[in-house]
Amino acid sequence: FAGMFEEAVRVLRRNDMGGWTRAAPELYPHQWSWDSAFIAIGLARLGARRAASELTTLLDGQWTTGKIPHIVFNPKAPPGSYLLGPEHWASASLSRSASGTPRPTSALCQPPVHAIAALRIFEVARGTADEDEARSFLSGGYANLLAWHRYLATARDPEGSGLVTIYHPWESGTDNSPRWDEALANVKVGELSPYARPDLGFVDEPSERPTAEEYDRYLWLVDLLKRSRYDEGRIYRSHPFLVKDVLFSAILVAANEALVEISRIVGARERDVEMIGRWIERGRRGLDACYDGDLGLCLDRDLRSDEPLRVRTIAGFAPLISGCTDTLREKLLLLLYSGTFAGDDRLRWPLPPSTSPREARFHPRAYWRGPVWPVISWLLWRSLKLAGEEGRAADLRRSSLEQLAAGGFAEYFEPFTGEPLGSDDQSWTAAVALDWLA
Ligand code: DGY
Repeated sequence: FAGMFEEAVRVLRRNDMGGWTRAAPELYPHQWSWDSAFIAIGLARLGARRAASELTTLLDGQWTTGKIPHIVFNPKAPPGSYLLGPEHWASASLSRSASGTPRPTSALCQPPVHAIAALRIFEVARGTADEDEARSFLSGGYANLLAWHRYLATARDPEGSGLVTIYHPWESGTDNSPRWDEALANVKVGELSPYARPDLGFVDEPSERPTAEEYDRYLWLVDLLKRSRYDEGRIYRSHPFLVKDVLFSAILVAANEALVEISRIVGARERDVEMIGRWIERGRRGLDACYDGDLGLCLDRDLRSDEPLRVRTIAGFAPLISGCTDTLREKLLLLLYSGTFAGDDRLRWPLPPSTSPREARFHPRAYWRGPVWPVISWLLWRSLKLAGEEGRAADLRRSSLEQLAAGGFAEYFEPFTGEPLGSDDQSWTAAVALDWLA
């Protein structure tokens, strides 16, 4: 993979906005929450200071509720370059900024990879000249991360189920995954002002992005949340899209594991550590309860219909990411490497597609309905390593790097041909490559 490390650095430099990184050069001109976490993981390989600032700039947009918003807006982005710019959310006053100036943000959130990233920055810096810098970053950010996880464990889980409720498919990070089809179909779209889609101008074909019907629903849900003034109680009573997301919940368990380690490094109160421990247990129990023996996968649950969402997607492997019993792991790995996912012999590389090619709703080019996403491969790779599956982890890393060597740092990849899709020079793709190559 000669030259790839330098190429990945070039992508991150191209997207560097001075202290933080836009998710992609054109399609995503702002700071996105889970993108930033992955970007920090990559930047950790280039030094603690800049990696830490990726997260502290994001935390400047954190809300008083503890929520880390899914977008912190770039005041310099060309007007109209992103559909739902700062003016659409009416939420800036809810963020608490370290500098005292509230940063305009969106009002949704995204999977909580942040504590994993923060710990990674420290781990990479440990034993180097950057160690003190990384430790003081952890001490400064610990309370923010704890508040974020507490928000997810309370406002987003009033049932105490261990599972996080999302209010919008964008919160899952897997926007148009067939995971959300049924729950979205039940959303009745009301009066929407006409809108144009800048995103379609930044990809080769509209089929690489969500459809018009999906976008109407995305916008309508944002409208409803805005009308409810982002009041969690009101949302829970009236919002038409309320779903327990298993992948989000599993990432939270993994992030809570990282937060326990961070709390030890910064010398946090034992009370905190115990509370985080309870969140972890509850999360694993909640995920266990979502396991579907017929499909052999963990399923999201629609709280409105009180039904599981029965479709085979990569999210079904959530217990691999949260950690689970050896028996469940064996079962999940068998399925992951079977013809239903990464073992489909039509695949160019044995990398898990976002939706099973055996699903009727699979589409090899359509965003989260089939393409391979390197950041998801990275999450699985990390989980395999933690579970002691060294051989499988090494194969996943090698295949992923081969995919990137052939197709560049694209946003996502056609699983059969390896064709790069979505945006070019996607920051988080370059970032996970840096981590793999370091
Ligand atoms: C987008 O705009 O496509 C994002 O995925 C929503 O955050």
